[in-house]
Amino acid sequence: MTNIAKISALASAPPDTSGVWDDLVQQDRAHRRVYTDDSIFAREMDNIFAATWVYLAHESEIPEPNDFKLSWIGLREVIVARDEDGLVHAFSNRCSHRGASVCREHQGNAADFTCPYHGWRFDNRGQLFGIPGKSAYGPKFKSRDMNLARPAQLGSYKGFVFATLNPDAPPLLQHLGNAARYLDAWIDHNGGPENLCLAGAHRFRLACNWKMVWDNAGDGYHVPFSHQSLLVMTNDRYGGGDMAYFADADRSRMSNNALDNGHTVIDQRPEMHGESAWRQQRPQPGREPYEEHVAATYGEQAQRVLDTTVGAGMNLNIFPNLALIGNQVQVVQPLAVAATGVHWYATRRRDADAEVNTMRLRTQEDFPVMGEMDDASNFEECQRGLTNSPEDEWVDMSRHYETGKDLPAEEGIVRGPVTTDLHMRNYYAEW
Ligand code: FES
Ligand code: FE
Repeated sequence: MTNIAKISALASAPPDTSGVWDDLVQQDRAHRRVYTDDSIFAREMDNIFAATWVYLAHESEIPEPNDFKLSWIGLREVIVARDEDGLVHAFSNRCSHRGASVCREHQGNAADFTCPYHGWRFDNRGQLFGIPGKSAYGPKFKSRDMNLARPAQLGSYKGFVFATLNPDAPPLLQHLGNAARYLDAWIDHNGGPENLCLAGAHRFRLACNWKMVWDNAGDGYHVPFSHQSLLVMTNDRYGGGDMAYFADADRSRMSNNALDNGHTVIDQRPEMHGESAWRQQRPQPGREPYEEHVAATYGEQAQRVLDTTVGAGMNLNIFPNLALIGNQVQVVQPLAVAATGVHWYATRRRDADAEVNTMRLRTQEDFPVMGEMDDASNFEECQRGLTNSPEDEWVDMSRHYETGKDLPAEEGIVRGPVTTDLHMRNYYAEW
């Protein structure tokens, strides 16, 4: 597949080593240009998104034969499809004829795809099988050379499907590294791989660079300031509650952890799940009858069921585009240097009854609805600041850089106070 070879060659091309990258990203600060420069964004699409493993989809989104959904490797659009034998494939949504998008639906069920432009037909493995007026092509034309391009590698970890355009990328498990055990814990909190299902997504588009969203994904510093109204309201009305432990965050038992290959995790579990995460939640519609239902249905297991209804207590960030927050899956989609798509997927459990899944959804509505807009506003304001005041060149990421509190822990993890900028320093080292 010729176009794959081209993409792969581009993806694995050595980065520009003229020294500019080292100047732009230093140990404790990053230059504004990495957030505002079109040419750097274009390089990121090749040297990061095409070169490393990128999250595409969860298998529960395409459960049936012939199900498909659209996804992205940076700007490159791909179709993720399950064939009639149940195997998952990914292939480019760029027609091998003249380049039109072959599929224009977000998701659906189709055994094949017909390009709307000249009617070329591809099966759901991406193979070309139908060309109108084929006899007009000469003897040198080979249909097999015109299949839709496939990523160099496709892999699934417990239902999470990743791909890379880089044939030389290490195996997926090696790429996940010590993030895999946090991912295991997150999946187990949500019922295990056989029960976790992605439900619908809340999608929005922000006027900021994708790294604004990523910087925040491991930021334990902003919570009492950015989300002040939420915390104050919770405290005034209910005397504490969810996330109140961020008020004096560095003295809390939470931690911020640098994992392999630019991945990170904020571990809130020692505070959030220290006693009962359920009891710390803000009020949710239907909470009292739900508690009664769980007590009547699950008996001695009731408290455990209640505590799994709420978030896993982790902000797990798999560089460069997958963040697991609470019980939700967030996907970061770069669109342009100052435009980013953010997709928040709710999750449900196959093994849970309707009441449990309804209450999970009520909990998942709580923070994105009331809190994410605080963050989104800050991302766009940061982008405006970096764009409009070019003489102020630097973005700071020096918090706890010099305090000696980011310390080696088990399995190669570096662990720091929850407000450390270790998250940014760690992913920028990979960047
Ligand atoms: Fe797809 Fe012509 S561009 S068939
Ligand atoms: Fe936030």
